[in-house]
Amino acid sequence: MKEERSSFSGKLGFILAAAGSAVGLGNLWRFPYLAAQHGGGIFILVYLILVVTFGFSMLILELAIGRKTKQSSITAYTKLHKKFGFLGYLAAIVPIIILPYYCVIGGWVIKYMMEFLTGGGLEAADSAYFGGFVSQAGEPLIFFVIYLLATMVIVLGGVQNGVERVSKVLMPVLLLLSIGISIYVATIDGAWDGIKYYVLPDLSNFSMSTVCAAMGQLFFSLSIAMGIMVSYGSYVKDDIDLSGCVNHIEIFDTSVALLSGFMIVPAVFVFAPDKLNTGGPGLMFETLPMVFKQMPFGQVIGAVFFVLVLLAALTSSISIMEAIVSMVMDKFKLKRWIAVVGVTVFSILLGIPSAWGFGLWGDVKILGMDFLTFFDFLANSVLMPIVALATCILVGWVVKTKTIEDEITKNGEKFARKGIFRVMVRYIAPVFLIMILVFYTLAQFGLVNY
Ligand code: TRP
Repeated sequence: MKEERSSFSGKLGFILAAAGSAVGLGNLWRFPYLAAQHGGGIFILVYLILVVTFGFSMLILELAIGRKTKQSSITAYTKLHKKFGFLGYLAAIVPIIILPYYCVIGGWVIKYMMEFLTGGGLEAADSAYFGGFVSQAGEPLIFFVIYLLATMVIVLGGVQNGVERVSKVLMPVLLLLSIGISIYVATIDGAWDGIKYYVLPDLSNFSMSTVCAAMGQLFFSLSIAMGIMVSYGSYVKDDIDLSGCVNHIEIFDTSVALLSGFMIVPAVFVFAPDKLNTGGPGLMFETLPMVFKQMPFGQVIGAVFFVLVLLAALTSSISIMEAIVSMVMDKFKLKRWIAVVGVTVFSILLGIPSAWGFGLWGDVKILGMDFLTFFDFLANSVLMPIVALATCILVGWVVKTKTIEDEITKNGEKFARKGIFRVMVRYIAPVFLIMILVFYTLAQFGLVNY
């Protein structure tokens, strides 16, 4: 254990740090394609309801566990109850699975950024471009490794703070740019149908898979159910109002995601309507270049846009890598650089199938999914619900919600959603999570439609 835990400088410092790592490819890349695929407005509605109830409860719960125990996730759960030590390890698997494929997508971002910076961005607007890129053997692998090495160099050099400071200044620029692009997209002929699809909930599009996808997205985007927020919580000073911070983080994270959908989903209706349900991980890369191609100064705007997306992605991937590295260091008593290099090499190996899963190894499917989609599914739809379920049982039934409520309000802070929190953690969330896990299992055997 560290002699003295460093802590965030104050409320704003903490909110910015947490929001900085929360906002990333999850908001910009993952949210829009899931919204497109799972019913548009109805997905948004389900997502929003989940954010203010379940997401809120889980996020505040994890932060409070960290602050109460002053331990990172590996040992924090044991400290709450010795039978729940397994939970720390289970949660630790999640970032280990996420980091490699996150870097594969990061590599795609670098590729597109380079194209726009070197003047070839408008070629990327060709409908065959994305498929041509991901089906190669060389480029997806090379750009993946470049992205991963960039993450590694930042973590190794201990310059996260520098990168985070730069990106904090630039994130508002990304926000403004996204608003500008969304407005432009709204003016294109045919975009209106897309906007309607995106904002108006249509009950006939609702299915269990809408709920499952929204839940997985919630875990990913808020970075919960993987122990990392427990570690963050251990750095939060005792006098900080957790529930106020959580509100800010949620609002910021959700706004970026919604905005990203406004850029991409209507553009799908205009430029690639056949991709609505089938676009998947490539959706952002297939549609945005077409928008930039039409837009005045599109080449420049596209270049700036992808540079900012890259920065947003990097702040997330460095905190994912940092979390894994510090666990590995603590566990195996390794020097920092050895842990960093070890995690990098491991991530390259685990990332190769994802990088080649759309080309060279495109014929290999696991449970009907390409490698990247499979790893994404394994983390967000299987492991995270299990971690969340076990956390709810631990807090709701073993140590009792009161322990956590007391931690949250120990300086007399308001905890407006305490009632929701209690019912959520004890009853609704566990039942819900079990339903989801059962549903997935049945779907794998073809007993229900996913
Ligand atoms: N939430 C991040 C995003 O939306 C991704 C992420 C998942 C993450 N787990 C994390 C970031 C842990 C930091 C720490 O892109």
